[in-house]
Amino acid sequence: MANLGVNIDHVATIRQARGTQYPDPVEAAVLAQLGGADQITVHLREDRRHIIDRDVRLLRSILQVPLNLEMACTAEMIRIALEVKPDMVTLVPEKREERTTEGGLDVAGQMGSLTDAVRALQSAQIPCSLFIEPESSAVDATLRTGASMVEFHTGRYSEVAGAEQNKELQRISAACAYAFSKGIAPHAGHGLNYRNVTPVAVIPHMQDLNIGHSIVARAVLVGLERAVREMKELIRRP
Ligand code: PXP
Repeated sequence: MANLGVNIDHVATIRQARGTQYPDPVEAAVLAQLGGADQITVHLREDRRHIIDRDVRLLRSILQVPLNLEMACTAEMIRIALEVKPDMVTLVPEKREERTTEGGLDVAGQMGSLTDAVRALQSAQIPCSLFIEPESSAVDATLRTGASMVEFHTGRYSEVAGAEQNKELQRISAACAYAFSKGIAPHAGHGLNYRNVTPVAVIPHMQDLNIGHSIVARAVLVGLERAVREMKELIRRP
């Protein structure tokens, strides 16, 4: 049964839009925990457009659930991760040339830098996940970097409907089974919402789902704790 990682970046987006101290993503993380979040995910971007360094440090010290730090594969981010020591790191593309055509990391094209980053982080006991397309070739490339987890990009699944969506679901499901057979823990995320999450949540071996936009959007109307609780229900009791 999949765990729910709640991505709180968009709470910080609202704060940064006005340069205020509120809403505080750290307070949001506490409410998400109360709602049943199994993990908190934040993306520290190079331009600090939402989450800032202070958020990551405070989250590290107050969270009772694991902290998943999403970040680009850069020297600055690796230095911060080694200092803050999140429970895991997910390496994501930030620049166009780091992506495959669809959107996940171009692992084969960045093999050297990704392998170095994974080695540096994992030797400091920070397990690494790579955000990739749901393809066996991307899983094979991930294996070569030494990363212990993958997060499959569900962006395309969330954008299409009907037969196309079923096809995407099969692609994610096959990639998940393949990763698991190779000893890599499969996660998924991007664009998952209250209407499309269940078929992904019931894919065998799926370990974590990272969900941000739909939960924070619902939270504006019903409150964060309830929004997280409702998502968790869909994942745990489909
Ligand atoms: N997983 C990864 C690697 C992401 O970069 C994002 C978006 O920041 C998400 C999951 C969450 O996507 P969404 O906000 O669409 O739920």
